[in-house]
Parts: sequence; C-alpha cells; structure tokens
Amino acid sequence: MSFLKEIEKRRTFGIISHPDAGKTTLTEKLLLFGGAIQEAGAVKNNKIKKAATSDFMEIERQRGISVATSVLAFLYRDKKINILDTPGHKDFAEDTFRTLTAVDSVIVVIDVAKGVEEQTEKLVEVCRMRNIPMIVFINKLDREGRDAFDLLDEVEQKLGLTVTPLSFPIGMGYDFKGIYNLWEKNINLFKGESKKKIEDTIAFDDLESEELEKIIGEKAADTLRENLELVHGVYPEFDKEAYLAGQQQPVFFGSALNNFGVREMLDCFVDIAPSPRPKKAEERVVTAKEKEMTGFVFKIHANMDPKHRDRLAFVKIVSGTFERNKPYLHVRHNKNLKFSSPNAFFAEKKEIVDISYPGDIVGLHDTGNFKIGDTLTEGEVLHYKGIPSFSPEHFRYINNADPMRSKQLNKGIDQLMDEGVAQLFTLNLNGRKVIGTVGALQYEVIQYRLEHEYGAKCTYENFPAYKACWVDPQDPGNEEFSEFQRVKQKFLATDKRGQLVFLADSQFSLQMVQQKYPTVKLHFTSEFD
Ligand code: G4P
Repeated sequence: MSFLKEIEKRRTFGIISHPDAGKTTLTEKLLLFGGAIQEAGAVKNNKIKKAATSDFMEIERQRGISVATSVLAFLYRDKKINILDTPGHKDFAEDTFRTLTAVDSVIVVIDVAKGVEEQTEKLVEVCRMRNIPMIVFINKLDREGRDAFDLLDEVEQKLGLTVTPLSFPIGMGYDFKGIYNLWEKNINLFKGESKKKIEDTIAFDDLESEELEKIIGEKAADTLRENLELVHGVYPEFDKEAYLAGQQQPVFFGSALNNFGVREMLDCFVDIAPSPRPKKAEERVVTAKEKEMTGFVFKIHANMDPKHRDRLAFVKIVSGTFERNKPYLHVRHNKNLKFSSPNAFFAEKKEIVDISYPGDIVGLHDTGNFKIGDTLTEGEVLHYKGIPSFSPEHFRYINNADPMRSKQLNKGIDQLMDEGVAQLFTLNLNGRKVIGTVGALQYEVIQYRLEHEYGAKCTYENFPAYKACWVDPQDPGNEEFSEFQRVKQKFLATDKRGQLVFLADSQFSLQMVQQKYPTVKLHFTSEFD
C-alpha cells in the first residue's frame, strides 16, 4: 500500500472523561467492534478509583506487565485505529495533557446524569486551545439522567463548545426506546426489557411517516418529531470542515455498557475524524506526507521489573516512515541512534515492527536517553512544540534519607523527572531540590519507586510555594530584572530544562511582583513564544 494511503488510513485519538463516566467501557466496546478482543472485561485499564498508593502500585505493576494498554490499536472498516490511553485520575492530569499532544482527535465521554464534571472541563480546555477535533459521547442513557437539551446547553456553556447532535435519544432510563441517528437517518431500537441488545435498525428518511407511531408508539413519536424539529432549529448543520478545525463538535447519545449508540459513533468517527494532522515545531510546521521521518516522545513508561531497569519511550510518528535499524538523529543529544526492536501496539499485545507510519506510536526501549518532548529526525534540527509543563499544585523539598546512596537517589530523581512523574526545581540560592506535583499521591509514588527501583530513600519537607511561574529570559543589563532577582533570590529556581522559575509563595506576592516589576514577564506554563 502506498505511503499516502497508509497515512489516510490512520485515526489516532484519545478518549477523555471524568473518572467513572465510562471511558474504559467505551474503549472496550470499540475494541470489540474492531475484533481486537473477544469479550468485555479484557481491558485492564489504569483505572484508579481510590487515591490509595497501594492501588496505584498494584496497577502500575500490572501495567509493567501489559504496558501495551497505553496504546490500543485495531482495524475497523479498513482504518487503522490507535487509541491512546489517558488516565482520568486528576493526580495524573499531566500525563493526560502530554498524551493529548500526540492525538489527532478526541472523544469526550459525559455521564448523562452527572453532566459536565471537573476533569472533563480541564481536559476539554486543553483540546480547545489546540483546536483538536472533538466528538462528544453522552453515556448511560439506559439510566435516568438529565434532559438532552439541558445537557447540550451545559456542554456548550461549561466547555465552550459549539455542538450539533448527530444522534438523539428516544426516551431515557426506564422509557429508553432507542436512538434516532441523524447521521445515517435511521432508528436503532432497544430490545425488550433488558435493553441489552439492538433489536432492529430501521431506515427512516421521512419522519412524518406513520410507521414511526407503529414502531415507537404515538407519544414517543410526537416527542421525537418535536425534539428533532428543535434540533434542526437550534443547532447548526454538521459541517465537517468546522469539526476538523475544532470549531464544531458533533454529539452522540448512547450506552457504552449496553453497546448502544457506540457503533453509530464509531462509523461516523472513521468517516470524519482526521488522519494525522500537521504538527508545529519551533522551526516550522511539519506535514505527515513529508518523506523524512520525524517524531517526538510524549510518554515514558518505566518497566516495573527491578531486574531490568529499562524503559519504554512512546514516540508519535509525525512524518515519513520509521524503520527498524535505521539511524535517527536524537536532536537534543545531537547523536544518531538505531533501534533494533521498536514495538508496535495491537489491542493488548506489543510486537516488534519493521516499519511504522505517521499517526502510529512506536515504543522504543530506552536506557535513559530520552526525555518527554525529545524529537527524532533524519538529520534536520527540529523541536516539536506543545509539551509544556504546567505549574504544579504541591511543592516539597526532597531530602536524602540514606547518605550512603546519594548517587542512586540523584539518578532516580533524574529518571523519574524525565518520565514526567513530577517536576524538579533546584533552588538557585542553595541548590536544594524541590519536587512539584499535581497531586499529593505522586509523592508516595516517587518515594516507593526510589526505594524499589533505585534502592534510595527520601523524606519530604514542606516548601511554601503557591505557584511556579516561568520567567522570560532578559537582557543581562536590565536593572529591573536584576532587582527582581536580588529581592526574590530565595524563591528563584531552575527547572530541568534550565529555565528560570519564580516559586511564588502566595497569590499576593505574585501580584506584588507583577506590579513592582512590570517588565519581568512571568508565564504559567514552561512553553511560551
Ligand atoms: P471510567 O473508565 O471513565 O472511569 O469509567 P468505566 O468505564 O470504568 O465506568 C464506570 C462505571 O459506569 C462502571 O460501573 C461501568 O460499568 C458503568 N457504566 C459504563 N457505561 C455505562 C452505561 O452505559 N450504563 C450504565 N448503567 N453504566 C455504565 P462500576 O460499577 O463502577 O464498575 P464495574 O464493576 O461495572 O466494572
């Protein structure tokens, strides 16, 4: 198959949701359709329901064994679908943000009863900022939930989206009869009381037809007609270009658990979702069709087996073909590397692959060469953008609890930070190390991993910071900047990329700095133009 056809075939996306909305269930149903798994319950997702370290460790151990669940690939209607796993737990939000740099589109799952929840808001905001095409799936229609129009309103208002329903429920909860599919113009009916199976799919071009009454009853037929009239009156027609530009989001209703409304969405998804999109590097925009291979590391996964401390770096191929045993330039190290056993991912397995195409994810065994955000090319010096660090929410000093093993501790901290587990800030004044995290859970994870993987022990001590602000580099002669550095020296640190960071201790002191030193530019993410 030609290179261009291979690109066109690929759909690389992520499913995002607040925990419990049904992401795992939906993923599983998609894999069933793709024939990638045979039964439900086969996907061991990184579901972290309780914020307990023991759960996390257990899950990590499982993941160490079946790391392939980070990328689930299958074929459906001749398309190669790559689902990138995104943890829903808020303490792992950074991991999800980074994974979102590698997707070409997303599906947002919302619980029909709970509506838009906190994590959904945060994740959708990141996608909206990057104009990532989004499809919304409103789940659990077999349960009593909110009115469909109310929910659509909430999605528009809270998530700042412009929606257009491509399916519409007929009843809900106990009265749930089925779904009208505006995309294919047909009705799917639930079977009997159990509501577990699709009884029938009936083509329905003409909603005025009396057949409708016969099938779903007079009352439901009237309501459906009214609802659809409202849909047509209130919402814009589906516009593929607007969807692809991230300006319009189609909405589907269904029940992942009952496998209802899922196929409709998947069929529409493979028709409309984008194949690999162009990606911005600092130097230029790169398109998938370019012959030379480029790609970037968006995730690093540690192998949990302490005997083999190798890691797997996940690389998204942006352009060209990635070939086994071919040398590629590791841009940050300015060094050529060859990979004899790159992994490709299929459903739950990973296997060595000779060639991968744009949109694909390859897993490269790594002994410490890679950091998140690293770029591989065939020689061109490129730096892919869009993998910023956000300000952590928690800050603690990390202390060495076993002076005989400080080398191990430093190595461990270094590698865990490369993986993106947390952020390290080194105080300029005294060289002490401060770890910043999104959730408190990470501190326990770091402590556990330092001990079990590196044989090092650490303790923590509170560091009174409120926010990390990245400081725009300034000309050396700038007096205001020098004064800022002098007055705030206790709060200045350097991050892992060598950027200067101001660790503000309160909102008030941050505002004071902004007022007193207006030429000192502070940023709330590590990447800025
Ligand atoms: P998540 O990955 O987004 O966290 O959600 P997950 O799929 O694990 O679903 C969360 C819970 O919601 C699960 O129940 C799941 O069975 C249920 N669920 C998912 N889709 C539907 C649906 O369409 N209808 C209904 N009624 N429930 C749905 P659980 O009891 O927490 O877990 P389990 O023991 O069933 O696995």
